[in-house]
Amino acid sequence: MNTDNMQDIKIIIDFMKNFVDNCHHVKEEKLLFDFLEHKGMVGGPIYVMAYEHNKLRDIINRIEVKYNEPKGLREDLNNLIVMLSSHIDKENNVLFPTAENLLSDDEDKIIYYKFERIEEGFGKERHRKYIELINTLYNRYTNKNQIKDKRINYPTNFSTF
Ligand SMILES: [Fe+2]
Repeated sequence: MNTDNMQDIKIIIDFMKNFVDNCHHVKEEKLLFDFLEHKGMVGGPIYVMAYEHNKLRDIINRIEVKYNEPKGLREDLNNLIVMLSSHIDKENNVLFPTAENLLSDDEDKIIYYKFERIEEGFGKERHRKYIELINTLYNRYTNKNQIKDKRINYPTNFSTF
């Protein structure tokens, strides 16, 4: 890995530890999972999602530790890609559709309102910078001949990410 790659790994560590943990995981762990448990979704999917969040944290911690001794770093980066892709897939195809079915419109509004407060606590400008950063990496590492510009669009309602 060259110096640019190594710098990008630092960006990924920062993105995962600060943006993903403090802006995304927190919404699920502190709000959504509780709501879903109260609606009867016990164990199963919630347990798996929380377990995977911790696995992702473990991988990121290992990547951070191995940063200066790159032996094994590539393997953990690959593990991160596999675990994160699978996690996002489960969220989009199992967790979120199930939540849509379980939660009433009023509960949706309450969660939305609370997500907004988390976003405000995180900082909208900070949020925007992280999205820009990840878009830059995305464009750097995707094959532009095969994939048209699929940039992550900055969400206008600010809570959808
Ligand atoms: Fe998650």
